[in-house]
Amino acid sequence: MSVDPSVIAALEAAVAADQGNNALRVHLAGLLADAGRYDDALASAGFVLQRQPDDVDALLVAARAAGALGDHDRANAYQRLAVALQPVLQEPQRPLANPGSGSVPDTADELLGRWHTTQAAPEPEIGALTVPGMTLDDVGGMLDVKRRLDLSFLAPLRNPGLRAQFGKSLRGGLLLWGPPGCGKTYIARALAGELRASFYEVGLSDILDMWVGSSERNLSAIFDTARRNSPCLLFFDEIDALGHKRSQLRGGGSAMRGVVNQFLTELDGATNDNDDVFVLAASNHPWDIDPALLRPGRFDRAVLVLPPEREAREAILELHLRGKPIEPVNLDQIAAMTAGMSGADLALICDHATERAMQASMQAGTLRPITQADLLDAVADTATSVRSWMETARNYALFGNATGMYDELATYIKKHHR
Ligand SMILES: Nc1ncnc2c1ncn2[C@@H]1O[C@H](COP(=O)(O)OP(=O)(O)OP(=O)(O)O)[C@@H](O)[C@H]1O
Ligand SMILES: [Mg+2]
Repeated sequence: MSVDPSVIAALEAAVAADQGNNALRVHLAGLLADAGRYDDALASAGFVLQRQPDDVDALLVAARAAGALGDHDRANAYQRLAVALQPVLQEPQRPLANPGSGSVPDTADELLGRWHTTQAAPEPEIGALTVPGMTLDDVGGMLDVKRRLDLSFLAPLRNPGLRAQFGKSLRGGLLLWGPPGCGKTYIARALAGELRASFYEVGLSDILDMWVGSSERNLSAIFDTARRNSPCLLFFDEIDALGHKRSQLRGGGSAMRGVVNQFLTELDGATNDNDDVFVLAASNHPWDIDPALLRPGRFDRAVLVLPPEREAREAILELHLRGKPIEPVNLDQIAAMTAGMSGADLALICDHATERAMQASMQAGTLRPITQADLLDAVADTATSVRSWMETARNYALFGNATGMYDELATYIKKHHR
């Protein structure tokens, strides 16, 4: 947007003459951003935030400027704070309020009062809401996991008659657990596509890291968003973060207990009253999960997602090489060499092989497709990322398996790792 430089100059003079006028300075920051002077805009908004950290207008300008400067972490932090402070934010990029309009609360009490009287944010700035174009067909191999998902989730959904008869069979959520990079998130996304539902992914530590007090509000905003966008698959990643933090805070953790209880209430509500919100969670550390979350009616079904078997590895490799220029290659050989690797490791191998072929093409000045040698080199360069997880998990499977939750893992470990 073009801004008359003389207006900016006049405002700068006014700010210099009236150092304490925050509203004026925020207004200037907005104009600087409009003029593309993001560094100056950020400095000006930052100056205000130092003295008044809850100035929503300053936060919004700072978010915009930081984003334009490519500092997305910082931009997100400002934006989230702005949303938390002013939940009824209709348009994040709205024009600045009139200077002196009194839209910024002056005291902490006023601020807290607003939280309780205002509506939840229309779309919380936590997690992402998407409509996945993929389905379970895009998930390579993993036949066992697919079968389990089908039995415990998809079949009852496809069959409303059965569902009505068995009534509560769909109550509660499903927990996907297992080593990192083996496709938990990937499968959850595919499941949303399969259900033709929106996919709403929320990292739980995101919520918990926000300051106490707004956590509860954010949680209910999340469930509200899911309900409003139903059918929706609500996916909580890192669900162990909740139990983890609670035990760390035992004794002094009343705030965290509030969050846990709120979570349980929302969960019970979402899964009991709302047919079209499906709740899924994932964890790499199921042993850290708060046991309250695993009770019947909550995450009472668990599906272990293990490193892909040989056929699955071949399918995953094929998927990740699809559409790329490639010579006829022997993926069976690569699959045989990559036992114990995760889907993410395999995706990395394909990326590395692609890079090699690209480099060769650039050097040659003509397209050189991916070859078996590229893939073999990439395999040699890639280490499995699952081993250390297996070492930890082994202890739980062998010595902490009172409930039988780790039976499947114990079988797997006995078969593959001694
Ligand atoms: N069955 C699969 N088919 C195709 N690609 C897969 C499969 N499993 C994993 N991948 C690939 O591996 C990547 C990592 O998988 P994903 O992010 O789902 O793992 P995760 O289990 O959620 O890991 P984390 O515990 O670290 O969150 C995916 O983006 C995808 O590229
Ligand atoms: Mg994941």
